[in-house]
Amino acid sequence: MRKKVFIANWKMNYDFHETTFFIRNLLKIVFERKINHNKEIILAPSFPFLHISNQILQGTNLNIAAQNIHHKDKGSYTGEVSAYMLKSIGVKNVILGHSERREFFFEENNVLSEKIKIALKYDLNIIFCVGESFYERSNDQQFHIVKHQLKETVFQCSSDKIKSFYIAYEPIWAIGTGKTATFEQAQTMHKFIRNLFLEKYGESISNKISILYGGSLNDINAKDFFYQKDIDGGLIGNSSLKLEKFLKIVQS
Ligand code: 13P
Repeated sequence: MRKKVFIANWKMNYDFHETTFFIRNLLKIVFERKINHNKEIILAPSFPFLHISNQILQGTNLNIAAQNIHHKDKGSYTGEVSAYMLKSIGVKNVILGHSERREFFFEENNVLSEKIKIALKYDLNIIFCVGESFYERSNDQQFHIVKHQLKETVFQCSSDKIKSFYIAYEPIWAIGTGKTATFEQAQTMHKFIRNLFLEKYGESISNKISILYGGSLNDINAKDFFYQKDIDGGLIGNSSLKLEKFLKIVQS
């Protein structure tokens, strides 16, 4: 039985005070209501607040994730942050392949493949995002696109590395738009992705890999998604910025 995983991707929101206030309150409620049982909760604040967030979460089973890393180990890359640095402050997870990184920072599969290598070198777990655009779905290319994204990145890894991955299916047209995929559309894609893992790595890995849905998840629609056989949790943007909404999603 796969644990349900809930990842709050705060993107470029929240300053120091908002971040720490949120995490302290979240922790208090999670333990009062005992809602982390058999659930994994990961928070992805901005780089400057990863260290303090990790300190607040010490001794709990909640974790943090970075929203990005550079694809090189170290060197003259002004403004960038490496896996090596994140490792030194206790970060264990990183989000890679997010469509906002692909679109606004021109990250393509070859760079993502390098990022995967460096993340694995520093033992980071990878929340790897895939998903099609509205145009691609309109032309019924979603399966082809997602397969291609995986083939050029995650599927370059040997089977012993796959335990470090979570896959997040985030249809681009559903991110921050209020327009979700239907849970049937999501389940169909999740099953398709699980089958790709089956073909490539066999049954044990395909049964174990967590495949999360992301794209306008909220406290109202979440349970319809999490009820589906192949949807193992969510990667949540906007609705993770409101404590009660996020908690309701985790409790769905
Ligand atoms: P929204 O939940 O705001 O649509 O964002 C989803 C997302 O991009 C999470 O990574």
